[in-house]
Amino acid sequence: MTFSQQQTLSREPRRLLVTGGAGFIGSNFVHHWCKQYPGDRVVVLDALTYAGNRNNLTYVEGRENLRFVHGDICDRPLIDTLLGEEMIDTVAHFAAESHVDRSILGPDAFIRTNVVGTFTLLEAFRHHWKRQGQPTSNNPSGDGSTYRFLHVSTDEVYGSLGPDDPPFTETTPYAPNSPYSASKAGSDHLARAYYETYGLPTIITNCSNNYGPYHFPEKLIPLMCINILLGKSLPVYGDGQNVRDWLYVGDHCGALDVVIHRGQPGGTYNIGGNNEVKNINLVHTLCELMNELAPHLSVRPSQKLITFVKDRPGHDRRYAIDATKIQAELGWTPAETLEGGLRQTLEWYLTHRDWWQPLLSEEYQAYYRQVYA
Ligand code: NAD
Ligand code: DAU
Repeated sequence: MTFSQQQTLSREPRRLLVTGGAGFIGSNFVHHWCKQYPGDRVVVLDALTYAGNRNNLTYVEGRENLRFVHGDICDRPLIDTLLGEEMIDTVAHFAAESHVDRSILGPDAFIRTNVVGTFTLLEAFRHHWKRQGQPTSNNPSGDGSTYRFLHVSTDEVYGSLGPDDPPFTETTPYAPNSPYSASKAGSDHLARAYYETYGLPTIITNCSNNYGPYHFPEKLIPLMCINILLGKSLPVYGDGQNVRDWLYVGDHCGALDVVIHRGQPGGTYNIGGNNEVKNINLVHTLCELMNELAPHLSVRPSQKLITFVKDRPGHDRRYAIDATKIQAELGWTPAETLEGGLRQTLEWYLTHRDWWQPLLSEEYQAYYRQVYA
């Protein structure tokens, strides 16, 4: 019996607020949750920024237990209303500005959403939890023991590793290097402080680089896939020797499921795939796989498209996650191999041109010119 099947049999339905549920990881998480726990209520709150996309939720749209709300996590009255009327007991907080290059071009939105937005959610959830999740004379059956605030964060808060440094653990000091990672670090500190100060059952996860379906074209793997298909150059920053630790998004969602059900309130869990790869090697692998999978490439072999370009300012050299804690405490390990996950991902991009083509809008082209000109 899988972990999710055991949970379904042994617990009351949960009522989730999923922020950023129309983004890449959030939408994969909504698919995961609706499939595993069809009896749970799932309310998606998403501002539909450039990175949010209603089409990411097509497969679950129309389900009785799913509600989509177009709104902003900084909108406190809206959050208060949703928490109350939907009797939310679990917040899965994905909403964020998530792209490092955009944070370098314009950090403002990162501070607003990632810091102020997270603060707004924490404050609203704290009041809701006090009202509804505690036994009081007005609400004697109030039981907050299942209440959770899952704060989905990143390994980038730990900064950059040297080639021989051990991987990040949950006690590695924070040393964020980009406005994006600094804003995520700020939000992590708030989530932690709300547990320490108010006892709010927050849990923080710090995950490595994800890849898989519904990944917005600006990020390395989808960008390379799409550019190979379009016969456009493949821009590798700097010397291409930077290292990332890749995790299939479905595995990340499985880890978050386990953390929501069994994670320790006030705890932090690192999540990673044990797949450290240099960027240039990853791009070569993507080219090889695409040469094999795509029948009609205009440039073949696609490796001919690889171009080294100016480096990202403050570019972190290496990330690597030590996921021993989540494995030992909660029994989670990733199921997908890197090669298997990349194959599935490339096949998805090959068969979902109707999903990604409209995202290459004039606005996206303007962004692209700014970063790669
Ligand atoms: P994404 O950019 O694909 O999606 C972000 C979503 O948040 C979008 O749907 C967007 O519309 C929504 N959003 C943005 N601002 C909002 C606001 N003010 N109010 C409501 N919704 C808003 O991001 P992602 O890659 O899916 O990342 C999700 C979370 O996971 C982020 O918190 C990110 O820091 C974290 N994370 C990402 C990765 C990764 O590799 N992508 C790895 C580790 C952690
Ligand atoms: O580590 C987790 C983080 O992973 C998440 O918190 C972020 O939200 C997510 O965007 C991702 O950040 P990275 O900066 O690592 O991902 P990105 O896909 O932008 O880049 C991966 C690596 O590839 C990085 O070393 C920069 C390089 N790169 C990226 C792009 C877009 C290139 O060489 N060329 C490119 O065009």
